[in-house]
Amino acid sequence: MPERSPDGDHRFDLIPEVYRDAVESVLIPAADIERKLDEMAAQVDADYADRELLLVGVLKGAIFVMADLTRRLTVSSAMDFMAVSSYGSSTTSSGVVRILKDLDTEIEGRDVLIVEDIVDSGLTLDYLIKNLRSRRPASVEVLALLTKPSRREVELPIAYVGFEVPDVFVVGYGLDFDEDYRGLRDVVTLKHEVYGG
Ligand code: PRP
Repeated sequence: MPERSPDGDHRFDLIPEVYRDAVESVLIPAADIERKLDEMAAQVDADYADRELLLVGVLKGAIFVMADLTRRLTVSSAMDFMAVSSYGSSTTSSGVVRILKDLDTEIEGRDVLIVEDIVDSGLTLDYLIKNLRSRRPASVEVLALLTKPSRREVELPIAYVGFEVPDVFVVGYGLDFDEDYRGLRDVVTLKHEVYGG
């Protein structure tokens, strides 16, 4: 039997023992994420019926959304990845973006869907959208599992949003602190003493 949180409920059941002391609360349980991905995939299927989609995942955080979304889609979809560095500190981004890994494929004339785990200031995505549009794709849209609207510094068109989250430091389902916690199935907040927030 998995151990329970101090108040005896099941919220911490999916969190491996080694991480439990660091977790403050489960913000979005895995089951809610699964349901939301079902909905988002159905919307994408409807919007891209009879078209061929190129999903562009932004490493590393987006790999879980990419995998779980792609397996739900019924439209034809190919995958590619980009890696960017934002020159920010570990918890904020500066808007100065450098491409560490570019796409393997040409996107001219293709329907591109950028897949993100989270949009925070929006600066990374703003750069990516402009960069990809300059390559003359047929379309560029964005799907993000999480968004923090209160942190936004640039207006962005995000076609598919999973959850709006408050301005708190979240990890899990791809999101890291110091490269750890990405594999948690829930999106959780950490105790302040863990990340120094
Ligand atoms: C995160 C996230 C976005 C970006 C959002 O990536 O995946 O790409 O930050 O921040 P912004 O809206 O303020 O620009 P991160 O740089 O943490 O890299 P990672 O995915 O490898 O963890």
